[in-house]
Amino acid sequence: MHIFNPTMTRPKIIVLISGNGSNLQALIDASASGALPAEISLVISNRSTAFGLQRAANAGIETLVFPLKPYKDAGKTREEYDADLGALVASKNPDLVVLAGWMHILSRGFLDALPDVVINLHPALPGEFDGAHAIERAFEAYRKGEIARTGVMVHRVIPEVDRGEVVLKREIPILETDTVETLEERIHSVEHAIIVEGAVQRLKDLGKLPAI
Ligand code: GRF
Repeated sequence: MHIFNPTMTRPKIIVLISGNGSNLQALIDASASGALPAEISLVISNRSTAFGLQRAANAGIETLVFPLKPYKDAGKTREEYDADLGALVASKNPDLVVLAGWMHILSRGFLDALPDVVINLHPALPGEFDGAHAIERAFEAYRKGEIARTGVMVHRVIPEVDRGEVVLKREIPILETDTVETLEERIHSVEHAIIVEGAVQRLKDLGKLPAI
């Protein structure tokens, strides 16, 4: 059982990104408004060109680029990259690690260093459209008459892609008038809410925020 200690400082979150960082922005805004009573202490990107790095810098958050290429160039494995990244993140003692558009699959080498604290955002419902291009695949399935709705979820991260225990999920109807672009837009706006709520929920589950 986790017991909340009210004298604790704000929990620390490390966010991993690969691109635009609109979900990171939602977390930054929620941290500033108090909707997410936690501090984003570090943003890590695997790509130096990720716009999310700019968003973090604008908010005065420390950033780090941790690319895979030097590992590949040195003949090192993905497991070695994951283990080094895991050790680095764990050395900062985060209360929560949020994968917000992080485009690498993280193996046990990373996850073993950070038990229980890693969550991911995925633009599909549990068990549907795991992995990349989930929105496009859902839209295609809708056009074939296979589904009438899709959704988004925040889930705990395990080595099986997009299969960890669900923290929060939300269904999103697909409309007759939708194009893949309008659907994507609607999904992103729901993501921006659920990533904040999912982070709060997981921190509560871990006893890092009061469970009320
Ligand atoms: C989101 O749709 C997320 O679910 C997916 O990648 C996208 C990242 O968007 N894994 P952003 O970088 O947060 O704007």
